[in-house]
Amino acid sequence: MEKTGEERREEAMKYVNFEGVDFLRGACTEETLRLVRDEFQVMDSDTFVVTYPKSGTVWMMEILSLVHKHGDPSWCHAVPIWNRVPWCETCIGLEVLRHYMPPRLITSHLSIQLFPKSFFGSKAKIIYVLRDPKDVVTSFYYYSKIHGMFKDPESFPQFLDNFLQGNVPYGSWFDHVCGWMKMKGQSNFFFITYEELLQDLRGSVVRICDFLGQELDEAAIDSVVENATFKTMKDNKMANFSQVSEDIIHHSKGRFMRKGISGDWKNNFTMAQSERFNRVYQEKMKDLGTKFPWDTDC
Ligand code: A3P
Repeated sequence: MEKTGEERREEAMKYVNFEGVDFLRGACTEETLRLVRDEFQVMDSDTFVVTYPKSGTVWMMEILSLVHKHGDPSWCHAVPIWNRVPWCETCIGLEVLRHYMPPRLITSHLSIQLFPKSFFGSKAKIIYVLRDPKDVVTSFYYYSKIHGMFKDPESFPQFLDNFLQGNVPYGSWFDHVCGWMKMKGQSNFFFITYEELLQDLRGSVVRICDFLGQELDEAAIDSVVENATFKTMKDNKMANFSQVSEDIIHHSKGRFMRKGISGDWKNNFTMAQSERFNRVYQEKMKDLGTKFPWDTDC
């Protein structure tokens, strides 16, 4: 349906640009983004989940919450996920963090150059989650269609073009990944893929506990795994985003917990789109020197 002039003006106002990257105006302001980068005080006991959107952020937030409570799911069933592991770059998240007793669990979609400067040189830890970018763009497209703070993605081909040009909120996937992967090898940086979590959730939880120095017994690890499956999280109203108001997420049009699989891009990409994506991927990722589970498809 053709948009009215008012609707077009509203769409144009949805993003705030900070240092060349678009953010959701409904969640962030330029002042907050500057404050977070320049003045936010990271503590040595902080643990961050850092991701490009749609890469498994909320999944890792839930895993981290469960590990933090040694497998006891009560916290995950009592408190909304955005208050347990708040996004530091959002106005609401920053407010939650003002009253958060350490050790803090914090989320961020920020690229490395916009991340709190005080992290570098601290002993705080980062868990960076990555996902096959073809599945990221697919998930992002469907999420933008149901989330009122995003511009209407129009068509999938249009959204794919924007994604490849880095012209979507949070910027270029390629820049995000290449920037953060420079931290590879640092003792306070751990990266894991969505595909590894899907393939071996238990083994992944054990690796995450090792990185965090958390000693969980077998029963506690089992509980983390049981409570972090797609099925359990889909039914947990404190994790499935069903509590977000209808003006922000149009629940009647789709769900945040959409499919939870790998390879859904194959249902959305044409052969030509996939080949074009591969050309951009190979060019942009050629100097990275890290192999990912999806490399054979890209
Ligand atoms: P799909 O849209 O492909 O289903 P993020 O949290 O970064 O926004 O990522 C959201 C994606 O992670 C969605 O992907 C969502 O379904 C998926 N997801 C969330 N929890 C999951 C889980 N426990 N297992 C598998 N996928 C999960």
